[in-house]
Amino acid sequence: LQSTAKAGKTRNLIEKMDESDKNMVILYGSQTGTAEDYASRLAKEGSARFGLKTMVADLEDYDYENLDCFPHDKVAVFVLATYGEGEPTDNAVEFYEFIYNGEPNFSENASEKPLTNLKYVTFGLGNNTYEHYNAMVRRVDESLTKLGARRIGPAGEGDDGAGTMEEDFISWKEAMWAELAEDMGLEEREAVYEPVFAITERDDLTPEDDTVYLGEPNKNHLEGKSVGPYNTHNPFIAPIALSKECFTVKDRNCIHMEIDLSKSNLTYTTGDHLAVWPTNAGVEVDRLFKVLGMEEKRHTVIDVKGLDSTSKVPFPAPTTYDAIVRYHVEINATVSRQFVASLAAFAPTEMAKEQMTRLGSDKDYFSEFVTRRYFNIAQVLELVAPGETWSQIPFSIIIEGLNHIQPRYYSISSSSVVNNKVPTITAVVESIAVPGGSNVLKGVTTNYLLALKQKQHGDPSPDPYGLTYAITGPRNKYDGFHVPVAIRSSNFRLPSDPSKPVIMIGPGTGVAPFRGFVQERAALAEQGQTVGKTLLFFGCRKESEDFLYKDEWPEYKEKLGDAFELITAFSRDGDKKVYVQHRLAEYAKEVNELIQQGAYFYVCGDAARMAREVNDVLGKILAEQRGLEEEKGHDLVKRLRSSNLYQEDVWS
Ligand code: 2AM
Repeated sequence: LQSTAKAGKTRNLIEKMDESDKNMVILYGSQTGTAEDYASRLAKEGSARFGLKTMVADLEDYDYENLDCFPHDKVAVFVLATYGEGEPTDNAVEFYEFIYNGEPNFSENASEKPLTNLKYVTFGLGNNTYEHYNAMVRRVDESLTKLGARRIGPAGEGDDGAGTMEEDFISWKEAMWAELAEDMGLEEREAVYEPVFAITERDDLTPEDDTVYLGEPNKNHLEGKSVGPYNTHNPFIAPIALSKECFTVKDRNCIHMEIDLSKSNLTYTTGDHLAVWPTNAGVEVDRLFKVLGMEEKRHTVIDVKGLDSTSKVPFPAPTTYDAIVRYHVEINATVSRQFVASLAAFAPTEMAKEQMTRLGSDKDYFSEFVTRRYFNIAQVLELVAPGETWSQIPFSIIIEGLNHIQPRYYSISSSSVVNNKVPTITAVVESIAVPGGSNVLKGVTTNYLLALKQKQHGDPSPDPYGLTYAITGPRNKYDGFHVPVAIRSSNFRLPSDPSKPVIMIGPGTGVAPFRGFVQERAALAEQGQTVGKTLLFFGCRKESEDFLYKDEWPEYKEKLGDAFELITAFSRDGDKKVYVQHRLAEYAKEVNELIQQGAYFYVCGDAARMAREVNDVLGKILAEQRGLEEEKGHDLVKRLRSSNLYQEDVWS
């Protein structure tokens, strides 16, 4: 399992900690960046409050055979997200295989409990709407304990499904710090901000200089070279082959986009996801610079360097303040309580300081004032000190305290059998008014896609929501109609034998992968292959409004004949709501028969309610049709899941 070390970089964690004089390492397993963000918050807090010498580390950057030599006076923290169906995140796979799946061989200690020296802390990020809630952290914790390591503090678990992740994290870490301080004999001190990154302004450079990064993710991009392999660390700036709106109604647009990968090494398989990197909306970028009092110097060229060898700057430099905020920092997310607390020291007035301190320490007040309204950082600063600028906030804290922009994943809505170089995506752009009218949420990436589409078409009102996206990309290099992408493979797959029946449940944009599935089966039928029953349950508001790919289904029907059936649920056409699961129940007999014939069952779309309800309805159907107790029906569904015959591609 020994991975080859990157040139010049050690994969020996203990050595690295020793060299850089650290006594606490926070290792993260992160997919979308939240676990990574929590890891750096713990690192900062450990050093600010307790004087710990902390470092943050990507799990995939180190080897773990020598964990048995981990010094007893140091501590390892594991911040681990669970991904999909109880799986480790991509960067944690090797570690997980080593510690949980295998029989780990350690370098020195071959006893049954080789890790007795290891003191560790765990926090997991999960979602209770999925089957294997927080499986990753639970399994790692179990393995470490079994190997003799000693956990300090409770095994923390955050629940994204209940929407309590942030508060779960905060309350867990308080208990953890108390125990850790006790164990390591640490004295708590008044927290002082210690920057992780140093920022130096470069008077010798201007944004026009071609060595200055204006959003380009790496050197090749800066030099205008297109060099693969492309992946989630190196996006491909893909031409948009075609973009259109599937429907447009008040405050809702649905974008269909076809992405041309032919000039890259990227390929995909039906059911995969497309990673898309967004750009922040100009209005939000402007808002932040205004409230920070930085409008005049936002285009100044700066260097950003880690103050010690363990802090990685998450974007290339030299760059500008503007480029960082526009392309690299998640400025539009609901701000965290901890970050608000850390800004209190830099408030422009005493009143603002008090307010920020209260927000930072009073969970209910924070939830009422900030979380419930989904305010981003600039909105909070504006509201806490109206008319003031927060010019004392060091810019380094903005980079350290906010997440860096991660790609968003869209279910690919085309079939690779039909065209493996031009995947399509289907996304709804929606403005959601927060109850009480205090805020309107606008998706960062979907609005960016809409802006691209409108620009490509020279639409008469190219910016209907006034978001002013810089959509031409840095230096106008990408002439407008490109988008940074990569492919993420998934387990969401059609049966390899097309004669197997499939049942698909996909309301709203949940239909995306099923357009790909149906397209594929239609193509196979056209080639003369025998295609099994293909049932698609689709739901939307109104037949005349948001019926996705309405014109395409009849074409597939022509090719697939009786094998294909589209069953619709229009929720707002009649006086009663009709949802996909209601229609599913009407098809109980056929659904049960198909499942008895080995049908694959797929669900895509909203995780929190729809996917759960569909799961329950299927359990009831199977029980009823087979004359079993309801409980048994649900067991059958579980069994379908574990044998991969029930597959989900869901989001919350
Ligand atoms: P509604 O918005 O009218 O309630 C796509 O978003 C479709 O899914 C819409 O018709 C929407 O209906 C419907 N929908 C909303 N909640 C649902 C649920 N819990 N289960 C299934 N469909 C749902």
